Amino acid sequence: QFPLPIPPVKTPKLTVTNPVTGNPIHYYEVYINRFTQQVYPNKGPATLVGYDGISPGPTFIVERGHETVVRFINNASIENSVHLHGSYSRAPWDGWAEDVTMPGEFKDYYYPNQQAARFLWYHDHAFMHTAENAYFGQAGGYIIHDPAEDALNLPSGYGVYDIPLVLSAKQYNNNGSLFTTNGETDSLYGDVIHVNGQPWPYFNVEPRKYRLRFLDAAVSRTFKLYFQRQTGSSAKIPFQVIATDAGLMTSPATTSDLYISMGERYEVVFDFSPFAGQNITLRNTDDVGQDDDYLHTNKVMRFVVGNTPVTDTSSVPSTLATVDWPTPDGTGVDRHFEFDRSNGEWQINGVVFADVNNRVLANVPRGKVEIWELENGGGGWSHPIHIHLVDFKVLWRSNDDDRQVYNYEAQGLKDVVWLAPNEIVRVEAHYAPWDGVYMFHCHNLIHEDHDMMAAFNVTALTD
Ligand code: C2O
Ligand code: CU
Repeated sequence: QFPLPIPPVKTPKLTVTNPVTGNPIHYYEVYINRFTQQVYPNKGPATLVGYDGISPGPTFIVERGHETVVRFINNASIENSVHLHGSYSRAPWDGWAEDVTMPGEFKDYYYPNQQAARFLWYHDHAFMHTAENAYFGQAGGYIIHDPAEDALNLPSGYGVYDIPLVLSAKQYNNNGSLFTTNGETDSLYGDVIHVNGQPWPYFNVEPRKYRLRFLDAAVSRTFKLYFQRQTGSSAKIPFQVIATDAGLMTSPATTSDLYISMGERYEVVFDFSPFAGQNITLRNTDDVGQDDDYLHTNKVMRFVVGNTPVTDTSSVPSTLATVDWPTPDGTGVDRHFEFDRSNGEWQINGVVFADVNNRVLANVPRGKVEIWELENGGGGWSHPIHIHLVDFKVLWRSNDDDRQVYNYEAQGLKDVVWLAPNEIVRVEAHYAPWDGVYMFHCHNLIHEDHDMMAAFNVTALTD
């Protein structure tokens, strides 16, 4: 049993003032390095490749309005492209799949950080190599803070009471090396659950409230999380969800189950104060989205709650934020996209990303609000759909198996929406603030690489 690692905070090399905007610009350098890590005590080490030679990579923590420039230096043996997922980056710095940096090269990425406080993540996006690169370690957290959120008095302090929990699921060979995603064309569900790179860790907490920032960084596994006492009553313990992909929700949503699919982020406040001296287990539900389950994939991690009473002055206000909802334009569903497998390929409306002449599936005038209907064409797979550039509102879910828009996904904006098997979902977004060609795709990284990804073109206003 090993403690939960907390990824270190990335520090800038240099800070200057942007002469145009007057904002500070923090400059960082990140080396993409190969490293070995003993994941299992009794097996050999695994060879991984990560940002700054760790996995997850270091966490960026920036204030809203402070701009960042990050130089990603490729010291690995395979090309990379970096996407800051959740940022409305300009197209040249959005990690376009074919805009790769070769081994021995670097690229400087610019991020505006003008969006409200949120939990983003950066990960590889190289054409046909995203699954492999992200799975072998190229993923990390990125947090934007702002004064409005700070004023709420939520549990705070990175690594103290504000804890990133990066979930992944992997599979190992007998010698302890990581089972490769190469050649995998369906999914890689993984039988070993990791949190912040450590299989099934424990974390010592005080009997008080914690802010837990969940990210599903797995290649193919969707989780349905719940908390339970390790001994005694097996009842699920309710908790409050306070933030979605795009930051704080209008108000907290109470639930005892949380679906989180690949690429999604949910932030939770869990109150450990009633459980002093006990163990709380975070568990996953079997048979979510028809994913493959294994002996221990229903366990995630354990919280060991201390016995010493503490004073907790943090609070969870009943109103959290004013969410910037898209203003409906009243024209109904604008576009329909179907996510299917056919002829051994993963497709969107019959198109694959390699089909360069047909892959721009939508031209959207900048500033327009559109409703996209996303349909899972069936076959027993989940497809979490990520649309770059925008935040969207989940309007509607087809009600197979009684599914509805979950209370926690209804109260905040999202950039990934989970399509469970056979499900249809409608999402509404304001296509702004920039022009440019952006990707949208399935965030099952194996599907994305083979080749369930397409593009939309936000076109300039004419006049
Ligand atoms: Cu998190 Cu296009 O990716
Ligand atoms: Cu998919």
